[in-house]
Amino acid sequence: MAERSLDSIVVLTGAGISTESGVPTFRGEDGLWRQYRAQELATPGAFHRNPTLVWEWYDWRRGLIAGCEPNAAHHTLAEMDRYCQDFVLITQNVDDLHQRAGSRRVVQLHGNIWQVRCVAESTAFENHDVPLPQIPPTCSCGALLRPHVVWFGESLDPDMLTTAYQAVEGCQLMLVVGTSAVVQPAASVPVMAKDRGAYLIEVNVERTPLSPWADEVILGPAAEELPKLWARLKEAM
Ligand code: APR
Repeated sequence: MAERSLDSIVVLTGAGISTESGVPTFRGEDGLWRQYRAQELATPGAFHRNPTLVWEWYDWRRGLIAGCEPNAAHHTLAEMDRYCQDFVLITQNVDDLHQRAGSRRVVQLHGNIWQVRCVAESTAFENHDVPLPQIPPTCSCGALLRPHVVWFGESLDPDMLTTAYQAVEGCQLMLVVGTSAVVQPAASVPVMAKDRGAYLIEVNVERTPLSPWADEVILGPAAEELPKLWARLKEAM
């Protein structure tokens, strides 16, 4: 990889980066909650049918995330953010572990679990209650509140998507960490970066549909592999 690769870095993270902090992934063995799979609860239809059930799941996840700490992978990305002038961290994660590790430029493509939105007024605001005093929570106008996250079948915030696409335009290094790379449009971001000439590195405990596109696939836990990778990249500068 050319020395100048560290000038402009874009990172895409997924649930796997938070595994070692104790946050379960969506797919695979640990991606279960009671008898439900995340994909069955994270839909507008599920919320319409049973807002209490969906909110119980979010309340459980919020409590879990509140008790977790950023791991070495989050901290490494925060250091990269401080180090590199042109750096964008795109995450599919709705937890706040990147921000708590000190990352400043975070694009949360799928929203933020610490924000809620009124279904009638569409206004979103912060809510850090753990546990929620009332399930399902309601707005002062009387309507239901929902998590301010993007569910299956919903569109992403167009501004965030534009920021993500613009970031990959001039990017020299695209780093993809802990995502199964199956959910669109997030999964298209690294492919787009690669098409535009970026060097693509994937860090995951297993190969993904993105692996054949990658210039390097690093197989291993992110909290172990990212600090090593960053040390190597800095040396190459
Ligand atoms: N280090 C690196 N990668 C890991 C680790 C680890 N310690 N543990 C698990 N992984 C990898 C898994 O191999 C898998 O490829 O993390 C990935 C997690 O995949 P998913 O659970 O599918 O999570 P993600 O890709 O973020 O899902 C995308 O789907 O359910 C929706 O909106 C939700 O944002 C989410 C989106």
